[in-house]
Amino acid sequence: MNSKVDLGYLQNKSIDLACEYLARGGAVAIPTETVYGLAADATNDLAIANVYVIKNRPSFNPLILHTCSLERAAMFGVFSSQALALAEQFWAPGHPNHCPLTLVVPLQQGHGISELATAGLATAAIRVPNHPLTNKLLRAYPNPLAAPSANISTRISATNAEIVREALGDKIPHIIDGGQCAIGIESTIIDASVEPFTILRHGGTPTELIERVLGYAPLPADIGDVIKSPGLMKRHYAPSIPLYMNQCERDAEAGDAFLGFGGECRSPHNLSPAGSLIEAAANLFRMLHEMDDPAKFNAIRVAPIPMRGIGLAINDRLQRAAVPAGLSCV
Ligand code: TXA
Ligand code: MG
Repeated sequence: MNSKVDLGYLQNKSIDLACEYLARGGAVAIPTETVYGLAADATNDLAIANVYVIKNRPSFNPLILHTCSLERAAMFGVFSSQALALAEQFWAPGHPNHCPLTLVVPLQQGHGISELATAGLATAAIRVPNHPLTNKLLRAYPNPLAAPSANISTRISATNAEIVREALGDKIPHIIDGGQCAIGIESTIIDASVEPFTILRHGGTPTELIERVLGYAPLPADIGDVIKSPGLMKRHYAPSIPLYMNQCERDAEAGDAFLGFGGECRSPHNLSPAGSLIEAAANLFRMLHEMDDPAKFNAIRVAPIPMRGIGLAINDRLQRAAVPAGLSCV
């Protein structure tokens, strides 16, 4: 066996292992042409909650969904003719025209994507990366992979497997080593859900190339805030009825929905009867959606959520959805 055969064999093994961990709800690090990603099955709420725990992220940003082709992307995203034009131009892995471009498009009905991955939005950010090992993994694995950059929150993104190992080696079961990332900065993000398209994040695809396809230059979505953190600002999902944090179930009024946490709660909506913050995060967006029904409820009242670990991200999210003057339950 020469060393080339050995390497191919090891890489295939590594991809098989990654598939196994992903199917069990685990997170694995994957190489892309931009930066390494911390990937989890985008249809699995608990797996996505785990990604936030590993990254120590204090808030829920919607994540980019990685898939192997436009055909697969069209199974969960809706592409207008201009969005299709961009995807056809930039999304062919291995082709010289490929560019790191993420497109935000409306979600298909019955898309099956975890609401924690999309942060409850009606749109999803999708990209087809360009790395032979990750593209092989994406072809082998049946579901799209949600993958933020494989670094601890606030630290710089990882551009080789060694950096990932130093940052996350003790927290994840597997890293696919695909060498150095060719581009080294994150993908450009275009909001392709409304025309004219806008730029949500500058990245590895030059704007001029996008302009050539669209016939116009996409402008920044909003100077300042949206560019820094598109998912957290104006577009973010908020319930249509008032939401109050830190509430006692006994104080909820008739017609109010109560979202509990832990064993003490009688409401059918409980983020985690066992008091697990990871389970609570996994259920958060789905339950908020279920309760966001003005025909049934006047308001959503939410039990206190402990301010530790991923509880910080849950409280951050609730804060963004809340009426400022909620009653306190102390
Ligand atoms: O190059 C990349 O894009 C890397 C590699 C790993 O693929 N990934 C990456 O993911 O940078 P992440 O999670 O660090 O950045 C995701 C960005 C966030 O700023 C988020 O707000 C935005 O995408 N985003 C995701 N879904 C969105 C949506 N539906 N609407 C607007 N922005 C969205
Ligand atoms: Mg990042």
